[in-house]
Amino acid sequence: MSKPFVLVQISDTHLGGTWFSGDPGALLATVVEAVRAAEPRPDAVLVSGDLADHATDREYELVRELLASFNAPIYVLPGNHDDRRALRHHFGLPGVDDDPVQYAVDLGPMRLVVLDSTRPGDDGGELDTDRLAWLDATLAADRATPTVLAMHHPPVPTGVPAWDRILIPRSDRLALGRIVESHPQLRRIVAGHLHKSVIGELNGRGVLVVPSTCVQLQLAFGATELQLSRESPGYAVHALLDGYLVSYIQSLS
Ligand SMILES: [Fe+2]
Ligand SMILES: [Fe+2]
Repeated sequence: MSKPFVLVQISDTHLGGTWFSGDPGALLATVVEAVRAAEPRPDAVLVSGDLADHATDREYELVRELLASFNAPIYVLPGNHDDRRALRHHFGLPGVDDDPVQYAVDLGPMRLVVLDSTRPGDDGGELDTDRLAWLDATLAADRATPTVLAMHHPPVPTGVPAWDRILIPRSDRLALGRIVESHPQLRRIVAGHLHKSVIGELNGRGVLVVPSTCVQLQLAFGATELQLSRESPGYAVHALLDGYLVSYIQSLS
C-alpha cells in the first residue's frame, strides 16, 4: 500500500473570541502542536471557517502566525464570523472584494473543492444558484480524482432547533444534494460551524462536521439556544489510502 495522503482539518478557531473560557490563540497553538507531534504528518491543512471572531486584521494576523507552524499548505474558507474581503486579503485567496470565496485545489491524489456557504451579516448560510452552478461545473472538470468538498455550514438537518436555525435552508440543501448525486468522485463533504463532531449524510454521501479548536456545543434536542459544553477541542484527519478515504476525529482530551 502506498503512503496515505493526509488532509488535516481544523475548524472554528475564533481568534479574538471572548464568549467562552480559555484563550483561543493558546487553544489553537495546543491543537497545532498535537498535529505536529502526531504521525502521519499532514500533506495539507484545511481550516473550515470562523477563523476570526470579529474579522479584525489583528485576529487574522494572529491566526496566520499560529497556522504557519503547520509547515504544510493551508486552505481556508469563510464562516459566519469571517469577512470575505479580509479573509481574501490575509490568505491571498482567489476572487475579488466580497464575492463568495470558493476555489478548487489539485493536491495530487486528492482534489479539494471549497464552497462558500455564508450569507454575510447572518449566522445562517445559503447556497444560491450561482454558487451551485460553479460547484457543478468545478466538479465536472475532474470526474476521476477522489474529491473532498469543504464548506462552513454542514448540509444536514440536526434535530436541534438552535442549530437548524443557523444552517442552510432546506431548499438549498436539497439542490446541493442533487449536484452531489451526479458526481461519484465526491467522497466526503466536510464542515464546521456546529462546534461538535457530527456524522450525517447528503444523498448517500458522508458529511463530517469537525469540532472547534476552542469551544464545543452541547447536544440538546429541543434546545432553542446554543449551549456550550465542556468537551475537548479536536480536529480531523482525512487519509486517502489507494483511492479509499477514511476520516478520523482526534480529540485532545
Ligand atoms: Fe464557529
Ligand atoms: Fe459558524
